[in-house]
Amino acid sequence: MASPTSLSLAILSILLTANSTIGSPNATHESFIRCFLDHTRPSNSSAQLLYSPNTTAYDAVFRSSIRNIRFLNSSSTTKPVLIVSPTNESHVQAAVVCSRKHGLRVRVRSGGHDYEGMSYVSEGDRFIIVDLAALRSITVDAEHGTAWVQAGATLGEVYYTIAEKNRTVGFSAGACPTVGVGGHFSGGGIGTLSRKYGTAADNIVDARLVDVNGRILDRESMGEDYFWVIRGGGAASFGIVLSYKIELNYVPPIVTAFNVIKTLKQDAAKLVTKWQQIGPNLDENLYIRVISLAIDDDEAEGNRTIQAMFNSLYLGTCKELLTVMGSSFPELGFEAADCNEMSWLESVLFFANYSGRPTEVLLDRKLEFDFSFKAKSDFVREPVTETTLEEIWRFLMEAKDEPLLLFMEPFGGVLNEIAESATPFPYRKGNLYIIQYYMWWLETDMETTERHLSWMRKLYALMTPYVSKNPRAAYLNYKDIDLGRTANVWGPKYFKNNFNRLAYVKSKVDPHNFFRNEQSIPPIKSLDKDTSLTRDRERENPEVSHDLKS
Ligand SMILES: Cc1cc2nc3c(=O)[nH]c(=O)nc-3n(C[C@H](O)[C@H](O)[C@H](O)COP(=O)(O)OP(=O)(O)OC[C@H]3O[C@@H](n4cnc5c(N)ncnc54)[C@H](O)[C@@H]3O)c2cc1C
Ligand SMILES: *[C@@H]1O[C@H](CO)[C@@H](O)[C@H](O)[C@H]1NC(C)=O
Ligand SMILES: *[C@@H]1O[C@H](CO)[C@@H](O)[C@H](O)[C@H]1NC(C)=O
Ligand SMILES: *[C@@H]1O[C@H](CO)[C@@H](O)[C@H](O)[C@H]1NC(C)=O
Ligand SMILES: *[C@@H]1O[C@H](CO)[C@@H](O)[C@H](O)[C@H]1NC(C)=O
Ligand SMILES: *[C@@H]1O[C@H](CO)[C@@H](O)[C@H](O)[C@H]1NC(C)=O
Ligand SMILES: *[C@@H]1O[C@H](CO)[C@@H](O)[C@H](O)[C@H]1NC(C)=O
Ligand SMILES: *[C@@H]1O[C@H](CO)[C@@H](O)[C@H](O)[C@H]1NC(C)=O
Ligand SMILES: *[C@@H]1O[C@H](CO)[C@@H](O)[C@H](O)[C@H]1NC(C)=O
Repeated sequence: MASPTSLSLAILSILLTANSTIGSPNATHESFIRCFLDHTRPSNSSAQLLYSPNTTAYDAVFRSSIRNIRFLNSSSTTKPVLIVSPTNESHVQAAVVCSRKHGLRVRVRSGGHDYEGMSYVSEGDRFIIVDLAALRSITVDAEHGTAWVQAGATLGEVYYTIAEKNRTVGFSAGACPTVGVGGHFSGGGIGTLSRKYGTAADNIVDARLVDVNGRILDRESMGEDYFWVIRGGGAASFGIVLSYKIELNYVPPIVTAFNVIKTLKQDAAKLVTKWQQIGPNLDENLYIRVISLAIDDDEAEGNRTIQAMFNSLYLGTCKELLTVMGSSFPELGFEAADCNEMSWLESVLFFANYSGRPTEVLLDRKLEFDFSFKAKSDFVREPVTETTLEEIWRFLMEAKDEPLLLFMEPFGGVLNEIAESATPFPYRKGNLYIIQYYMWWLETDMETTERHLSWMRKLYALMTPYVSKNPRAAYLNYKDIDLGRTANVWGPKYFKNNFNRLAYVKSKVDPHNFFRNEQSIPPIKSLDKDTSLTRDRERENPEVSHDLKS
């Protein structure tokens, strides 16, 4: 077997002979590689840690966790000059130290599900990807009901691993099993258990991260401000999260999942109008979300209708659920035949639409096929009227070639009881539900893509009067570049009043804005520069503005 040193040198020489247009390792690039290998040489790992664009493996590694192919051919974004695939925390430290030293930026990727591709493409920075896919161990402490989860693990791996240890533990996080812990937990994380247990971030009790100086910090050494920002503020602005310690959530041995589907003729509009009042106020063991879309009407050729699916989970048996539904939502006509009793882990499959498959499917990191998607989000604070709902649905029916989906996910429950400032995720009491507008397509040509994107924007415009205002809120994990690149504009939308504290912490822990992307939290100094307040001050007092700029 090759010695570690000769192996490293072999990789180095492959990389240094590389010579393609995007991948041409010029001086910065070469010195990064030397620096990185110097820092990691004692490692006896035989795993390849670096991928240069001039190698065939680069493309496969680059694409490995990408879920949105919309950015792959984009002319407005660039790809990484190198991909680093750490197998040890010390490799992450080396990547930060060496990229800072040699003028490269870093994009961190855990599950690669970022809605705007910000973990793997950039609008201008020369950067490396630190891809955490190999750092994905999950260590469960059954006795204390906690687990340390490395950032590169997927939600499917988390759910599978904890449930394997104990059938009555679950975790409150999102429905898609291939989403990564690093992006998802650090941006909030909502799912079927969040009405009972809050967001994923609400259940984090410790963390380990690499800061801008390459140091590894935990909750105690980073301090409470720093620990606060990485639980909903998006960790990408603040460092590289290595792992989170989470408190596991109790789930009963038997849960009941169900779907009730209604079309317009089956009173979908009345029922969904009613759901807006009921869904957020239900028993917190019951989660009913509504997924609606336009379909061809089977019974009227050439006509369109709406299909609204009440996609639901109850933390208890069918018998108990029948009582709850009978008293809180009798209009839905729910009956015993609609019940599917199962373990909580099987309910994860149900929500991922993998019912009937073995639970090991959750360990498969490459489930989906390649497609493009675009999404946006809104929060609803006042129920919309039946007439309004019909207007929104008419838009969906008229958009014949547009694969638009509406996900309405109920808030309420314990989400109402947590203070807006407890974590950076501010969407608590007063929010009835979140809407996610979502569309996906297979075509890769610009024309089709542009058409879809413009319909999405039209729908968003149509919704303006019916959703939250001042600011019109949006959920960070459903990242939307249409909200702009100006922090003063998107900041309050994602974070409300928490934005200021995020910028304050940023200016303490990363004052020179090393960790950045198109929508990352800026340090307060550069934030000031954007505000009209500063412009006014500049007019009155040129010296102050000079100071601010230097
Ligand atoms: C199919 C699908 C289903 C989804 N379902 C849900 C859902 O049910 N509920 C929900 O709340 N959200 C859901 N999401 C949204 C999801 O939570 C976000 O896209 C999330 O940010 C993805 O995390 P990731 O690690 O997979 O993504 P990545 O693309 O790896 O990262 C996302 C962002 O976080 C940064 N980041 C990633 N890892 C780290 C790290 N270790 N340290 C610092 N920064 C890091 C990246 O740089 C990037 O800015 C879904 C997304 C998809 C595509
Ligand atoms: C790098 O690219 C050049 C041509 O651009 C090619 O000759 C060379 O073999 C490549 N090296 C590797 C390691 O792929
Ligand atoms: C390396 O390439 C980048 C662009 O690809 C360029 O901005 C930079 O100046 C180059 N550095 C050197 C030393 O050639
Ligand atoms: C490499 O490290 C592993 C532990 O991580 C150890 O078991 C093994 O003996 C080491 N191999 C060499 C060649 O040092
Ligand atoms: C990670 O690296 C550190 C320091 O270089 C080393 O002590 C440790 O054994 C490594 N861990 C693994 C799992 O290889
Ligand atoms: C399983 O988890 C429950 C809480 O969800 C706990 O009460 C029980 O003791 C655990 N069982 C084992 C064997 O760890
Ligand atoms: C189709 O829709 C039109 C307009 O809404 C309606 O008048 C007509 O009755 C529908 N056709 C059928 C067969 O239901
Ligand atoms: C679930 O998967 C089946 C195929 O297995 C597909 O036909 C159906 O449309 C999917 N449903 C949803 C809601 O994605
Ligand atoms: C990228 O562009 C090429 C050539 O135009 C095309 O063949 C390919 O399908 C495109 N891929 C994606 C993912 O858009």
